Amino acid sequence: MQTEVRDAIAPQEIERRRNFAIISHPDAGKTTLTEKLLLYGGAIQQAGSVKARRSQRHATSDWMAMEQQRGISITSTVLQFEYQNCLLNLLDTPGHQDFSEDTYRTLAAADNAVMLIDAAKGLETQTRKLFEVCRLRSLPIFTFINKLDRPSMSPLELIDEIERELGLSTYVINWPIGTGDQFQGIFDRQHQQVHLFQKSGDHGTRKATDTIIAANDPRIESLVGENLYHQLQEELEILDSLGPTLDLEAVHRGQMTPVFFGSAMNNFGVELFLKSFLEYGLKPTPHESNKGKIDPTYPEFSGFVFKLQANMDPKHRDRIAFLRVCSGKFEKDMVVNHARTGKTVRLSHPQKLFAQERDTVEVAYPGDVVGLNNPGTFAIGDTVYIGDKLIYPSIPSFSPELFAYLRNADPTKYKNFNKGVTELQEEGAVQILHSTDESKRNPILAAVGQLQFEVVQFRLVNEYGVETYLEALPYSVARWVTGGWDILDKVGRLFNTFVVKDRWERPVLLFKNQWNLDQVKGDHPELELSPIALPPTTEKA
Ligand code: G4P
Repeated sequence: MQTEVRDAIAPQEIERRRNFAIISHPDAGKTTLTEKLLLYGGAIQQAGSVKARRSQRHATSDWMAMEQQRGISITSTVLQFEYQNCLLNLLDTPGHQDFSEDTYRTLAAADNAVMLIDAAKGLETQTRKLFEVCRLRSLPIFTFINKLDRPSMSPLELIDEIERELGLSTYVINWPIGTGDQFQGIFDRQHQQVHLFQKSGDHGTRKATDTIIAANDPRIESLVGENLYHQLQEELEILDSLGPTLDLEAVHRGQMTPVFFGSAMNNFGVELFLKSFLEYGLKPTPHESNKGKIDPTYPEFSGFVFKLQANMDPKHRDRIAFLRVCSGKFEKDMVVNHARTGKTVRLSHPQKLFAQERDTVEVAYPGDVVGLNNPGTFAIGDTVYIGDKLIYPSIPSFSPELFAYLRNADPTKYKNFNKGVTELQEEGAVQILHSTDESKRNPILAAVGQLQFEVVQFRLVNEYGVETYLEALPYSVARWVTGGWDILDKVGRLFNTFVVKDRWERPVLLFKNQWNLDQVKGDHPELELSPIALPPTTEKA
């Protein structure tokens, strides 16, 4: 076993890091906000360049052709940028409607989440689902309500919706003065300042010039207009009298969300948001392990793999494992222990990915994400460490929502078909279930989004030479039976339920809809069902 002891890492490297993911529904403005954050972070000179560069690259890559055809981003990257001497790691989650389990898994590596909401639409399905994953991890949530320059729901209504539906208390950091055509600016409650909105007219490709006026400046009334001025006074009074004070501990426990309003497209409210996020966002946090909580300041290197990605560059057919650094200092070419296999592994060719560009990483610190070459060594949830044996908990599987039998079109390709399905399952590209009826041997693909099916079929053809077809199954909810087969036997026949088994032979129930699930739960209260599942523990401390 590797016993090399490393120097304690510089605490300022941990102090200055903030790591976060953006959760939102498609079209809320995630790409736009990401670009604006990069613009303020100086990582790009002009917003729009990430998008442009992405599509340029896509043109030369046949794997990416699928993304381009559909105008979406399947793969996600980690963007690192600096702002005011802080180092931000933005874990970019695939943003399309057809999102995949990777979107959920990325949240396992995040310390904070930014919940981006379209002011006209309020909370939407994908945001709710992602929020639930954040809640499981008690992640701090920062809410940015976007597109205030467009006709919007009333800001009070939006706040109320978050409180009521998500059960989060809110603390408004800045408040809009009017919305849509009437949008005049925002009121910064902390600094008691008004920021006047200036439409940039060019989609905010460059930083906005902010006009800031003190709250007690008598010019405000004439600048924003009498009506809006009085409305603002009333709304601020409501916020002051009803709203709680900012409780940072509650924010860090994921129970209170600081709320910001703005317009990402116009760069409005973006910098203010960024500054507050740096002030209030969680620094790299301790992670639970078999040895208790491992603090980022723990001197030995450790981390876990939260996502695998294949074929980002089809010329090299490479695979990348994304590793979240939890403690110690990562150094290129270091030799570490691999908890699952008990072997040692050299972490060579580590990469930092910025859109499709790659840089070699020499060192990385807790809160950072490193892309590692993965010739089949790593699986999702794997721990690597130096020193005393450490194991971080596995990353759960989430309830799939789409199910289909996968059939092999050519029986002579049976071996390749099996190999491909097994490898793609191990990599976490899709979940595989099986019927309990031995005569039905075709695997059931189970996914969170339609795109996962397409990716699996595409890769089976390209990497394993196997054509397949799908036979959709009419289910939309899966639940693991916590008590295993025994309890299921006791319960007896379940109506409107398809009983299948997961890759570890554990029982999973498939339901057509939530209504059927509720009915079964009502009829059999003794049946404990879970929407998430952890792999059985095979690793021994
Ligand atoms: P997504 O990644 O969350 O899917 O959203 P994206 O940033 O692509 O934004 C979706 C659309 O919303 C884009 O318009 C974008 O310009 C627009 N948008 C984002 N932020 C704002 C905002 O603050 N105000 C207004 N009015 N619009 C905003 P599009 O027409 O689809 O694309 P584009 O032609 O503008 O690039």
